[in-house]
Amino acid sequence: MRVDLVFSPQALASGALAGRTALVIDVLRASTTIVTALANGARAIVPCLSPEEARERAQSFSSGEAVLGGERGARRLPGFALGNSPLEYTGERVKGKTILFTTTNGTHALLSAREAAALGIAGFVNVSAAAQWVLAAGRDLTMICSGEMGGFCLEDTVCGGMVVTRLQESGVPLTLSDAALAASLLSRHYEGRVRQALEDSEWGRRLKLVEFERDLEASSQVDAFTALPVLAGDEIVVLAGPPARILGGSCLQGRETSNPS
Ligand code: MLT
Repeated sequence: MRVDLVFSPQALASGALAGRTALVIDVLRASTTIVTALANGARAIVPCLSPEEARERAQSFSSGEAVLGGERGARRLPGFALGNSPLEYTGERVKGKTILFTTTNGTHALLSAREAAALGIAGFVNVSAAAQWVLAAGRDLTMICSGEMGGFCLEDTVCGGMVVTRLQESGVPLTLSDAALAASLLSRHYEGRVRQALEDSEWGRRLKLVEFERDLEASSQVDAFTALPVLAGDEIVVLAGPPARILGGSCLQGRETSNPS
């Protein structure tokens, strides 16, 4: 399996994802929030490029079916019920709902990767489930770090490196690009100290300043969830089937993407 990683969606060459599995990573915080929302029973997440698009799409839903969620500058948007803190996405607030979701970098990364043969979403909170899904698909992999406004970001790269480690543990032969190798080396530096990577990162420090410190804790919970969000049409849904096993055993086979509603 060939494994590549880009440090931001802007670094994706046209056609680069054709025939490949893509994993989009935005540890702080879009990935973590999406995994949490789906694990807590949200029906689907619809990634929207702008707040205006989210508001417009909301109009096609009956009252109570959809919820607006997302941020700009880390803050909840005007008129939105939810921001981008994973802690807001509780079962009480999201169960059965479709979340119309827009964030600064994460949803842009997701929408940039739509041409992939299959697209999943990973954070530390579901890193083993993500690696299992990649192994089961058997295609070459490109990881897309959401980055920060087109630039490198530490926590997404460390998470990508952790996916590489999980794949290596499976025994499947891997051919790593230089970027995937660099991510893997960086993640070894933070082995067992994921929270420190979030503390060290620019965005992690920014979130602390604007009083989202608890989100660093939530985002650093390795394998808190077995949910694997995947793109199905224009929605992100949780992969149907039994929960992924934490790596160390054989990978799950034959799981289908389907909308759980
Ligand atoms: C993003 O998409 O840029 C992030 O998820 C921002 C945030 O932490 O709210």
